[in-house]
Amino acid sequence: MNYKEEIAKKINAVTNVAISELEEYIEIPPNPEMGDYAFPCFKLAKELRKAPPAIATELKENIVVDGVIEKIEVAGGYLNFFVNKSTLVVEVLKEVLAKGEDYGKSDIGNGKTIVIDYSSPNIAKPFHIGHLRTTVIGGALYKMYKFLGYHVVGINHLGDWGMGISKTIAGYEMWKEEYSFDENPIMSILAIYVRFNKLEKEDPSYTDKARDVLIRLENKDEETTKLWRWIIEISLENYQKVYDLLGSEFDSYNGEAFYNDKMDRVIKELEEKNLLVDSEGAKVVEMPDNMPPCIIITSAGTTIYATRDLAALLYRIDNYDFSKALYVVGSEQSLHFKQVFKTLELMGYEKYAKNCEHISFGLILDENGEKIGSRKGGHLLTLEEILNESIEKSRKIIEEKNPELDNKEEVAKMVGVGAIIFNDLSNNRVKDEIFDWNQILNFAGETGPYLQYTYVRTQSILRNAGIEEKSLLEADFTKLLDKEGIDVIKLLGSFETAVVNATNKNEPSIISRYLIDVAQSFSRFYNEHQIICEEEETKKARVALTKAVGTVVKTGLSILGIKTPEKM
Ligand code: ARG
Repeated sequence: MNYKEEIAKKINAVTNVAISELEEYIEIPPNPEMGDYAFPCFKLAKELRKAPPAIATELKENIVVDGVIEKIEVAGGYLNFFVNKSTLVVEVLKEVLAKGEDYGKSDIGNGKTIVIDYSSPNIAKPFHIGHLRTTVIGGALYKMYKFLGYHVVGINHLGDWGMGISKTIAGYEMWKEEYSFDENPIMSILAIYVRFNKLEKEDPSYTDKARDVLIRLENKDEETTKLWRWIIEISLENYQKVYDLLGSEFDSYNGEAFYNDKMDRVIKELEEKNLLVDSEGAKVVEMPDNMPPCIIITSAGTTIYATRDLAALLYRIDNYDFSKALYVVGSEQSLHFKQVFKTLELMGYEKYAKNCEHISFGLILDENGEKIGSRKGGHLLTLEEILNESIEKSRKIIEEKNPELDNKEEVAKMVGVGAIIFNDLSNNRVKDEIFDWNQILNFAGETGPYLQYTYVRTQSILRNAGIEEKSLLEADFTKLLDKEGIDVIKLLGSFETAVVNATNKNEPSIISRYLIDVAQSFSRFYNEHQIICEEEETKKARVALTKAVGTVVKTGLSILGIKTPEKM
C-alpha cells in the first residue's frame, strides 16, 4: 500500500494538481499523534490563490474518509491524515512475508542505465585506506540502483598510465635484482617506487629515465609493455583480495590506458567546435564563471587526466547511452570534474553532461580528529591489514560472547568487514568519517554488528517459536495494534521509500539510518511485549512481525554490501 499515493489521489480529486507533485509534498509528522501523514497546504497557496488554512478546511470538507484513511484533521495550514491501522498492519506484513527478499524492490529503474565509476585506484601501490570510501560508497550505490531495477555498469577506471607507473618501471629496470617478487610482490613494487621518488627529488635526471619509459610505452615497445602488463597483474591480484572481502563488483576494468587510442577524437571534436585555445604553450578549453581553464594538451605536448576522462565519457555515451554517470571520487577532484562536465556540455553533449555527477565524500579521521593518511610512521596502512585487523578483533569478541559457535571464522569475517562498511556509510557521505575501533565494533551502538545482531536475534526467535513459517502469513495481524507494533510496521512499510530516497540523493546513509531506526524500534517492541507468549494467535502475529523485521534488516544490509550471519 502506497499511502502517499493514496492521499495524493484524494487531494488530486479535489484540486486537480498532479498526483506526482502532491506526493512529493506529503510529509511524515514528527509525532504520530499529529497523524501518520501531513499535507502542507502552503505548497498550493500560489497555485490555488488561497491562504493555507482555507485550503486545508476546503480539502477536509471534500475528501471522503474510507477504510484506508480513517480520519482527517486540520491543524493550521496542515492537513493531517490518520490511516486505518488494521489495514496498515495487514497490508504491510502480508507484503513483506509474501515477497521475502524481494520486498522493497521496484522497477522504477527499468530501461535506464547508470554508469558508476568507483574505486579506480592508481596501480603499482597496494590498496590502502585512501581507497576505502570510494570503494564502499560506490559499491553500495551499485547495489542500490540494481535493487530498483536499473541496469548498472560498475567501472574501475584504473590509473594505469602516465609518469607514476613509468617511474616504477624505470626503478624496476635498475634494481630488480635487489628485491624478491615471490611472496608479496606489490610491496616490492611499492618499495621501488618510493626509492625512485626519493632519488628523483635530489636528481632530476631520474625524471628523464621515467620519461624515457613512458615514451617506450607510447611506442608500444615490447619489453616495456610486458613489464607494464605484469605490474598491472600484480596490482589487480592485490586489489582482488580486498574486493573479495568487501564484495565489490565491477563490470569493466577499462583504465586510463584503454583510452590511449581514443583521445584523437576528443581533440578533433574540440578543434572542430573551436573550443581549443592556446595558452602558454598548452591547449585549453576556457571555462565560464572564473573557473580555471580545462587543460587538454600540456605545454609538453602530452594529453592528461582530463583528456582521458573526456575520451572515457564519449566512450560511455556511445556504449552505454547512460541516463546517469556517477563518479565516486574524493572532494579534492571536484574542480576536475566540474571542468570535464562543462567541457562535455560545450562540446554539444548537454543531455549527457547534465546527468554526470561527482559523488564526493569527506575524509577519514582518527578518534582524535586527525586525518588518517595512507601512511603511519613510515608504514603504509593497507586495507587488507585493516580489514584483517577488524576480522581478528571481531573473532575475539565472538569468542568471548559465544565460544560454542560453529563457524566462528566465517562469522568473524562477516562482522569484521560489515563493521568497517557500515561505519563508512553511517553518516552523510560529505561528512568526515571517524575511524575509531571502539565505535566501529560496538555491538550495542549504531553499528553494523548491532544490525547483524538484530537479525540474528530475529532468527533465534523464529527457531524457538516452533511455528511453521508458511503459516505465519495466516496470522491475525490485528493482534499487533499496540503503539510499539504499529511503529515497527509503519517503518517496515517505508522500506522502498527509503531506498528510493537514498538512490535519488546517492546517499547510502539514508538506508543505514533507516535500518538503525527499524532495529531500535523492534528492540522497543521486544522489550514491551513477550513474543513467545501463551496466547497462540498473539504469538503467531508477533513471530510474523519478527520475521518481517529480519527480512528487511537482511535485505537492507545486503544493499549496503553487508552480509548477515544466522548466528553470532
Ligand atoms: N585514479 C584516480 C585517483 O586515484 C581516480 C580516478 C577516478 N575516475 C575518473 N574517471 N577520473 O585519484
